[in-house]
Amino acid sequence: MLRIVVVVGTLLLGAGAVMAQQAIAVQQDNLMRGQAKSLYDVILKMVKGEISYNQAAVDTAIKDLEESVPKIPATFATNPKENVVNGWYGSSKKVWQNKADFDSKVPPVVKAIADVKGKIKDVASLKVAYDSIDGKCTDCHETYRVKLK
Ligand code: HEC
Repeated sequence: MLRIVVVVGTLLLGAGAVMAQQAIAVQQDNLMRGQAKSLYDVILKMVKGEISYNQAAVDTAIKDLEESVPKIPATFATNPKENVVNGWYGSSKKVWQNKADFDSKVPPVVKAIADVKGKIKDVASLKVAYDSIDGKCTDCHETYRVKLK
């Protein structure tokens, strides 16, 4: 009986650890998807003319990015050691081998957002803002993001 309890307990602990890891991976992925929503689903689509320019939506997207981007270092504090199930992208293990360098990719994004805040008035200035922010997102992705499919 005791043996069964121990075995079942160990299995549950194992499952718990796997779930926690998946939860961390999902949290990291969700943070990125949220930023992608602001930058690609709102800002880029307006730049391309796929949706019409909307100042309030631009301001909200910039504000959301301003709040979300500084959360990257803490959200990626732990290596989940697994990818989000069926995810398109995963983290390179270099993130945690080189966490200080990874974290150093965040302030340039924060600065790019601060530099354009309040200056976006039309599609032309939105395009300038998009290029500048996206370039800094890419600086991190080039080294630390892995395409899974
Ligand atoms: C400091 C590094 C870093 C910065 C800065 C960064 N990202 Fe990421 N991003 C990652 C890593 C690592 C992944 C892969 C892990 C994941 O998807 O959870 C990722 C994944 C993504 C993905 C793929 C999500 C998916 O569907 O799986 C998108 C989209 C994305 N980032 C958008 C952005 C945008 C937009 C910005 C800038 C506003 C940004 N990222 C800034 C590190 C970064």
